Amino acid sequence: AANFIRMGHSVGFSLFEKSKFYGKKYYCQQVSKEQNTFIPFLDMIESRREQAARSILVQVQSEQSYKQLFTYCESIGKVKNMFHYSEGPEPLHFIIVEFASDVDIKNVFAASTHIQENQSIPATSHFLWFRAASKKLGRLKQDKNARLSAEHATQLISETDLCRELAQCETVSNQIDKLYDLTRLNEVGQRLRFLTAKQVESTVSGLFPNICAYPFGSSVNGFGKMSCDLDLVVRLTQDKENDNSRLIYHCKAASGTERSTAQRNMETIGDLIHLFLPGCSQVRRILQARVPIIKYHQQFTNVECDLSMSNMSGVYMSDFLYLMGEIDPRVRPLLFTIRKWAKEVFLTNHSPGKWITNFSLTLLALAFLQKPLRSPAVLPTLNQLVKSAGPYDNYVTEDGINGTFLRDIKKLHFERQNTSSLHSLLFEFFEYYAQFDFMNKAICLNEAVAIAKPEYSPLYIVNPLEKGLNVSKNVSMEELERFKIEIRNAAWILESQESNVGDKGLLSIFETKNNLKQKLNLSFSPKHNRLLEVNALFDEDEEKKIEFKNVAVEKEVAK
Ligand code: CTP
Ligand code: MG
Repeated sequence: AANFIRMGHSVGFSLFEKSKFYGKKYYCQQVSKEQNTFIPFLDMIESRREQAARSILVQVQSEQSYKQLFTYCESIGKVKNMFHYSEGPEPLHFIIVEFASDVDIKNVFAASTHIQENQSIPATSHFLWFRAASKKLGRLKQDKNARLSAEHATQLISETDLCRELAQCETVSNQIDKLYDLTRLNEVGQRLRFLTAKQVESTVSGLFPNICAYPFGSSVNGFGKMSCDLDLVVRLTQDKENDNSRLIYHCKAASGTERSTAQRNMETIGDLIHLFLPGCSQVRRILQARVPIIKYHQQFTNVECDLSMSNMSGVYMSDFLYLMGEIDPRVRPLLFTIRKWAKEVFLTNHSPGKWITNFSLTLLALAFLQKPLRSPAVLPTLNQLVKSAGPYDNYVTEDGINGTFLRDIKKLHFERQNTSSLHSLLFEFFEYYAQFDFMNKAICLNEAVAIAKPEYSPLYIVNPLEKGLNVSKNVSMEELERFKIEIRNAAWILESQESNVGDKGLLSIFETKNNLKQKLNLSFSPKHNRLLEVNALFDEDEEKKIEFKNVAVEKEVAK
């Protein structure tokens, strides 16, 4: 594909609904598309990138400053949308201003200036501040048409409020939906991530005018929560430029191996971010990893970034995960619950290590949803998508990773016969992996059956796009054991829950860590006591683990 991203559909604008939430202002995002409009991943990405290119992020004095800012911006171009958010304990206030056209944004940059100070580096980016009015600058009339589409839009829901909201749901399935609605990345969160990517592009574009910084991972695949990190892959050139040209740019030859050149380039990008990009701090270079990355924090958008310059396989993978989430509306709420549960019982951890990652958990859950178990499968396998691929779905990276699969789900021939509730799907997920033969089998999303492990690794999840790789190679035996124990625990707790939320419902699986805390304090209820004993029993005896569903154990616990 000469141009990696195809132009096409545009993303419909989200509507923000103001509602009262326990006395605080709370803004929830409604569906970002007209009903039944499916937007292919790459079109969505292109549309968001183009939207970020027409937007600026402006630091202002208070949430009220938007009125003056609107008047000022309207004197330069047409304002299409404004969103307010604030960050920090002594909040700094910001407004995203989206302009209607490319010409407007060009005029905005032409009308903006640098403060002439010896110490400041005159970087130009989409991040600006709106200086206070003075006698010299004059006061501005406040335009009646000034309107914010959202206020305090990045405010996270507190754990207490979240629990209270979940406790008020009628069924476990409702709780799963609610958790998703209250914690997923909203419209402003998405815009901020694309603006963060834009900042890198605009800094380096002088040297490399074709540079593209593509967001991938949970920021864009539909499985991200409000505070999720931004994974970015930076490409200095498009895959193929004009093949027929007789005039070829002179370029420096790379010195050293491909890997050492890549590391050196990354180091330079790290320096640029550290020295020249306003708002970027805590730059860390992790260059020895299989995929070298630069980590940094963008304080204006409050986004943690992982920047790489490797191939596009992460983007194709995100496309695949996005597609799976679009095919069935139960997928994302279910995944949010599984990720939340794993976090609460300490199976996942923010820093990388020997534990399971959110990405591996996502693949585990999707593989489960592809299996026709008690009822028909919820999702198709990757092979089914590959078979249905059309000529426009052909994508291969320069190092041969094949990202060819059907993109347009309207063309998908897949019988959607599964009608299980979210509650049953969650329980069946726990139950399926509670009994899974991790010792001998690998999890595979390319086909509907688990396959024999190609090599020894405690947990083996075949990378669907690079079948020779194990996505969960990092997971140690101890961590897999902990995973198995927690998954049995969760299945056991969930099975004892009615579908109506009598006794906390979903909240009870999130409380497992408290049970463990209680175990340490030796103060726990008889029911939890028995539960812990059952766990201890699992720890001791492998066979007992397999007998998890054994009625005798259940009866004993019930006593
Ligand atoms: N990825 C991959 N192979 C891996 C690890 C990651 O292809 N072995 C890609 C996936 O597309 C993944 C993305 O890199 O979604 C980012 O990885 P990571 O940040 O670990 O996961 P996220 O899905 O972004 O989840 P989180 O919210 O925890 O960041
Ligand atoms: Mg991520």
